[in-house]
Amino acid sequence: MLSEKYKQFAQMIVYQIYPRSFNDSNGDGIGDIRGIIEKLEYLNELGINAIWICPCYKSPNDDNGYDISDYYDIMDEFGTLDDIKELISEAHRREIKIIMDLVPNHTSTQHKWFIESKKSKDNYYSDFYYWFDEPANDWKSEFGGSAWEYCAERNQYYLHSYAVSQADLNWDNPKVVEEMQKVVDYWTALGVDGFRCDVIDQISKDFENGRNCFGPNLHKYINALFGRHETEKLFTVGECWAEDIEEFCRHAKEERKELTTLFQFDHIDCGRESKFVPKNDSLKSVRDILIKWQKLCYDNDLLYTLFSDNHDHSPFISRIGNDRELRYESACLIATMFYTLRGIPFIYQGQEIGTASSHYDSIDHFRDVESLNLYKIFSEQYGEEKALEMINFGSRDNERHPFSWNGGKYAGFSTAEPWIPLNSRFNEINLERDMLSQKSVFKYYKDLIALRKNSPEILFGDFEVLSKPQDNYFAFTRTYEGKTVTVICNFERPSQIALPSREGKLLLGNYSDRKGFSELFRPYEAAVYGDI
Ligand code: NOJ
Repeated sequence: MLSEKYKQFAQMIVYQIYPRSFNDSNGDGIGDIRGIIEKLEYLNELGINAIWICPCYKSPNDDNGYDISDYYDIMDEFGTLDDIKELISEAHRREIKIIMDLVPNHTSTQHKWFIESKKSKDNYYSDFYYWFDEPANDWKSEFGGSAWEYCAERNQYYLHSYAVSQADLNWDNPKVVEEMQKVVDYWTALGVDGFRCDVIDQISKDFENGRNCFGPNLHKYINALFGRHETEKLFTVGECWAEDIEEFCRHAKEERKELTTLFQFDHIDCGRESKFVPKNDSLKSVRDILIKWQKLCYDNDLLYTLFSDNHDHSPFISRIGNDRELRYESACLIATMFYTLRGIPFIYQGQEIGTASSHYDSIDHFRDVESLNLYKIFSEQYGEEKALEMINFGSRDNERHPFSWNGGKYAGFSTAEPWIPLNSRFNEINLERDMLSQKSVFKYYKDLIALRKNSPEILFGDFEVLSKPQDNYFAFTRTYEGKTVTVICNFERPSQIALPSREGKLLLGNYSDRKGFSELFRPYEAAVYGDI
């Protein structure tokens, strides 16, 4: 059974916004906070009740805001503190929660703390970062190259797990813990409802075992960050690459006062060998991972995070679905598969119109620091043509093109040329066109969200799998207080699905002519039935 705390959070449906690419209100080609305010009615219509906003604090933008230079202010391109206050109150007026992105592992090298820290070895900020006379080990940056950078001013090396301009904070210094506590206090006092915590597993380093994450003080530090708050009200989700349920429990068990939940990434590599290399894969692999975690989280009274996409991975539909002739069916199938399970749904902007990957024929069209760094490395290893193919497949820019509101100039995102090229398929895939279509992904999402919100079975029910591992489909039931919802998600090929006979009323489906229960299911067909 779910505890009261989890029952409350289980009703959340989160929409993730990449503010730079969502909606530009002032015609400078960059999305902004007022742009989000303008679209609150749209989000209200979709039916979500929480928004996670990727970082919008002051930042030189080497990693689009994940390199923060001031945690207490908004970056000029996005607006002002007054704008964010208005966003909070306008969202709350519509009963939409605001989840900020908290980046505790690193700051920009333009942050005051780093500027002071690099000046000498004996000032107040000297130990805010990791400094060594020589690189302390052979750690690599996530964005390519060594994780250690020489700083002439201090004549020492500092650690950067990401870009050179993102220096890792030294949480073993109690002053750093205090500073980050103040940041959390500040934003909660402004009324935000929670935080998505960027690479939180890295705030304690395990130097002894050569890992820049899961260090010995990790839980102590997370508890210091949130334990002083009302954790039964403050929603916190950690980006945390925890691999097993023990680690998940250590973070998210209610009594520990650490995090509400974690993103669990087991399924993130479905459809790819590695981030930049595709793999022929079946939705079966996604199904099996979802089943495993549904059971684990159920047994341990934990809430799972139900997501297929975010700003860091190329669109799931393009890797594991058919994003051409069966794009509508695939988009709806993936949504049904994730969002009728137990946990908290996260929808990444554009998923609700079936946005697919882009393709560009020159590296000049890319903006992401990771893509640009890796393009150089891949070019040396495999040649430029192959390197570009790899970047087209795996680039984070695939998820960062402006939201395609319509097929007009700049896709209705801005009146000026956007900071990053439009999605190369924006003419074909955009909200306006989708809404006019008989097969509207948006409409399906809206119906699915409404169904979820009004169904105690989907929100809280027990989970029982009906399909077998060898089946080319995923069929399961969700049962609560004697009532059952049955979900059938067929995969790539047609399947004759004969389930234990039960009269069911079709609640939702992505093939408009579906009626019965036990019959042929077509490629990527999804159907949800309720008791009569
Ligand atoms: C994870 C974030 O999601 C990603 O976008 C960012 O580049 C890294 N953490 C570094 O902050």
